[in-house]
This record gives sequence, C-alpha cells and structure tokens, in this order.
Amino acid sequence: MTNDCWLLTIDMCGIIGYIGKRNAVSVVLDGLKRLEYRGYDSAGVAFFSDKGIEVRRCRGKIKDLTSMLESENPTSNNTIGHTRWATHGKPSEENAHPHRSRDIVLVHNGIIENYLHLKKMLIEKGYRFRSETDTEVLCHLIADCTHGCSLEEAVMEAMKEVKGAYAIAIIKEDEPDKIVGVKKDSPLVVGLGEGEYFIASDVPAFLNYSSDVIFLEDGEMVILTRDGVRVNKLDGTPVRQKVKSVSWSPSMAEKGGYRHFMLKEIYEQPRAIADTMRGRFNAESGEVNLEEFGFGEEELKSIGKIFIVACGTSYHAAIVGKYIIEDLVRIPVEVDIASEFRYRKPIIRPEDLMIVITQSGETADTIAAQREAKRLGAKVLTICNVVGSTSSRDADAVFYTHSGPEIGVASTKAFTTQIAGLYLFALGIGKTRGMISDKISKALLQELLTIPGKVERSLSEDKSIRNIAKEFFKARGFLYIGRGITYPIALEGALKLKEISYIHAEGYPAGEMKHGPIALIDEELPVVVLAPMDNLHEKIISSIQEVKSRGGKVISITNNIDSDACSISDKCIFVPETNVYLTTVLMSIPMQLLAYHIGVLRGCDVDQPRNLAKSVTVE
Ligand code: AGP
Repeated sequence: MTNDCWLLTIDMCGIIGYIGKRNAVSVVLDGLKRLEYRGYDSAGVAFFSDKGIEVRRCRGKIKDLTSMLESENPTSNNTIGHTRWATHGKPSEENAHPHRSRDIVLVHNGIIENYLHLKKMLIEKGYRFRSETDTEVLCHLIADCTHGCSLEEAVMEAMKEVKGAYAIAIIKEDEPDKIVGVKKDSPLVVGLGEGEYFIASDVPAFLNYSSDVIFLEDGEMVILTRDGVRVNKLDGTPVRQKVKSVSWSPSMAEKGGYRHFMLKEIYEQPRAIADTMRGRFNAESGEVNLEEFGFGEEELKSIGKIFIVACGTSYHAAIVGKYIIEDLVRIPVEVDIASEFRYRKPIIRPEDLMIVITQSGETADTIAAQREAKRLGAKVLTICNVVGSTSSRDADAVFYTHSGPEIGVASTKAFTTQIAGLYLFALGIGKTRGMISDKISKALLQELLTIPGKVERSLSEDKSIRNIAKEFFKARGFLYIGRGITYPIALEGALKLKEISYIHAEGYPAGEMKHGPIALIDEELPVVVLAPMDNLHEKIISSIQEVKSRGGKVISITNNIDSDACSISDKCIFVPETNVYLTTVLMSIPMQLLAYHIGVLRGCDVDQPRNLAKSVTVE
C-alpha cells in the first residue's frame, strides 16, 4: 500500500560516520551523544580494526554503549554509528544498528516503504534475516550488488529498488578508507575538516570539529575518503559541492536552530503527520491499510462498543476520536480519563474494543486502565509514539504514530499525529463495516494528504500570534471555548497554556458559558474562541457576543475570512479550511503557538515546565 502523501524529512534516528586522523570510535560516540535527542532506545557502532569491520550494539542509551566499549577501548580511523528511535521492530540488540550482510555494514534513518517486498525477494535469494527492522533489507540488497564493483557502484545499483525515506552511511570490508552516504527524504549532512570528514543526520554530531557543512539533497550520494569528499547523483552525475558555514552553538543545533524543542516540534508537525500517513492508505482507491491497526475485517465488524482512555493531551485527542468515530462509523464511543476508568466499575465486554492513546506508552494511569480492560476481556488497540513501550507491548494491536521523539514536555506533534491516527482508524473501520462509501473515503483521504501543507500555512501565522501573545501574556487567566468537535481543542489549548506559562486557563464547551463561567468575564480574562465555519458557527458567534457584551476580550480562531467572528472579535487568527474532522488539527497549531509565546514572554522553561515530567510513570 503506498500513498502519495507529501514527502518530508524523517528525523527518527541519529546516524554518524567519521573518517580521519582521530580515534574514529571516540568521535562517533561523542557525536551520537549529541544526536540522542533524535532517538535513544538502542545504539551501536561499526569500526575498522585489524580484524576487519567490528560491530558493537546494545539496547539502551549511548552511555550504555560507551560503557560497553570502555574496557575494550577500540581505536580506528573509520567508524559509523547509530542511535535508534524504533519504527519497525522493538528496541533490542538484534534490531539495533549497524546492520551487516556479508562485507557490507550500514546505519539508516528513515522508513523503507517497500521493505516487505524486498525482504521476500532477498529471502528467496537465500539471505537470512536476523532482525525485525526494515533497514536490514538495505544491507542484503547492497551486498547482493557488490559483484566485484566499488561500494558506491553497488549502492547506486541497489538503491534503484528502494522506495521510502532514507539517510544511510555504508562501509565495506575491503574498502577501509571509505564511507558512502545516500540521502532521500531524511536529513544527511557532511562535515568538512582538515583531512577528516564527517557524515551525520544533523550538524550537532560534528559541530565541535567542523562548521563547514554540505547539506545533501534528495537523490544524492556522497563518498568520503581520507583524501576528500565527492558528491554525485545516484545515476553517477557529479554534483557541485555547496559548502555552508554553520554559526549555531551545539545546543541550538540540537534544536535545529529553534530556541526550544517545543517550538521545533511544533514546526515538525507537517513532517510528523506526513510520516504517520506514510504507507498506510491509498487515496486513489480509498483504502486504508487495516494491517496497520492490527485487526482483521471480521474483528472490526464484530466490535460492539469502543472505549477510549488516555491522560492529558492524549485524552483530548481521545475526545476528538469519539466525535470522528461516532460521526463516521455510528459505533458508540465512551471516553474516559484513564485514572478514572477502572474506579467506575466500567461495563466493558469481550466484544468491545478499548483504544488507548499514549505518546510515551509508559503513563501509569493509562497502562492500569488498559490492563483492567484486558482483565474484563476486551481487545486493546494502542495508539502510541514509542515502539516497544509498555502499553504497546501489552496491547493486542498497536498503531504507531511516527512523530519522532517528542522532547518538549508539552505534547504538540504527538497530539496532531494521534488525531491523524484516529482519523485513519475511523476510515478503516467505517469502510469495513460498510458505513463509508468509496467516494467519501477517497475524498477524506485526499483531504488528509493536504494537511501537512495546510499545517505549514497555519504555522505562517506565527508572527501575528506572537504579537497577540505580547498583548495578553500578563492576563490573570484565560478561557478557551469551542463547540462540537472543536470543544476538545479548547480543552487542549487551555492545557497547553497552563502547563507552560502557569497562567490558569480553562477549556469549556461554549454552550456552558451561561451556566457559570460567564461570571468570570472581564477585560482581564481573555477568551480564546474556536470559530470554524461549520454547522455550529452561528452559535459560536452568539458566544462571542455574550463575552463582548460583558466587556470581555476575544481572540478568535477561524477558517473563513468571511466569518463574522473576526469583525466582532478583538483579535483573529486564520487557519486554512478543511473538513470538520481535520479542522481540529489545524486549529491546534495556533493554540500551541499562543501558549509557547506566552510562556516565553513570561520567562518560563517551556521545554521543562515546573512540577511536570514528560512521562508520568507514577499513579
Ligand atoms: C501534555 O502536554 C502533557 N505533557 C501531559 O498531559 C501528557 O499528555 C499526559 O501525561 C499523557 O502522556 P502520554 O500521552 O505519554 O500518555
């Protein structure tokens, strides 16, 4: 199953290679530490010694790999290394990179879309697979092409068969003075030193040694030797090298030039959503790849009721999921805050499905609710961002969001990719149960393909949102209101603000204003109103008028320039139009940016807010 979703870079793992006069193993280990923000569930290095290429790998962090190597203290002049964020195959030594086939050893960042096809072909040729990764097919494929030619020639031949996203560094037993790299849709950069050269996923890996960088383009291959660097297209055409000097500090470089991880992750959302979609549906046929959800057609047809449990931001995604699934599939959906679920004596039966939503896969309350559902006989699907996490291991099926490591405590890209996952699930189960026609499914999938671009356009409002933040960052509190499917986005906006700026904020269904909250309204309490042009628009306009008539200040977020919301609000933020379900993704962007800028203006530590942890592993 492939789709033509908008291809963007994937940044789920960190790779690095070094060739030169220093001890390459130390340089690579140092570089991996600086890439650990890109993935940290397992790691490994491959280095040339007098025995040829030696590989050392382990589950865990770089420090575990470093201590594993301490006693051996290997030296080398040519080494490649990898720190992993698992997408295919749990974190383990055998799934860790580098991977080897015959005289080829390589590290990879990205997703090989047609790896199952390639794996089948290679097994028929007699290759034995030792890992669950998609990466291993690259090793065997290149090894299969090294019939007496150079490493770069074998790579050029092999990569013709590969579909997907990749940044690869490859070495070959009988060419100890060479590293070959290839780039497509995953970042790969080259560092230029004096008689020493670096290849890596990102600049921080070698910024301590060199700030002269070649940013490789898609379809380019680079050959590093002690004598220098050559760049050519995968068809062999030489490429003129474009060397740039990077002025970032190592810390800024880890954040990709952004001031905080949270802002970097807000801006990663077009790529994160594109990667979460990648290979999971075909917009032309309107088919969703049900295998990605781990259930067969008969199981999906037999589901009686759906329960969704989660905490915090993931709980808000759960409510969005309820609206989408009930609207499209007409299955009853109950949503619970995970810490409440098992204490309310839930009536959940074996024919029911529990969907667990958790970025980390380690939230204690969520795992406890998941286990209670299992004890009561229900099937469990986890929507999770961390391969091999407790929740994903305990579940009957897992849908992995491919948003990459989310370092900022405040969840952003994980949230929007969770919604994308729920949207795909609803389409898949809805089609299977005959509730969604081919025509509707094609239209909904075509619209999903436009979302990375529409998120980009929503991000372009950043400057005006920062100006709004400057006007309101001293407010004593905020109200966020929405109706229908944007009600949970109001909840999410309020949570984002309170957790990184420490301003009290509440999300409310707009219809509830007159039942109490309107008593709070005065000019010190700005109200953020989600006002999409949908069937509830007129009612949301009334809510704005209720606030304005009591002297309140209104910041509206809308997706239609003709909306009355703007003319009667104090401030107005636009997001592109899309369908009612995906409007939740687009309206999340200004919520995130407003909270971020207010937090920064208030001098808060937006990446690590006080009292909070990225993963709440205690009940
Ligand atoms: C979100 O910004 C918060 N950091 C927090 O509410 C988080 O969503 C919650 O702890 C759930 O985490 P999980 O998705 O990893 O289970």
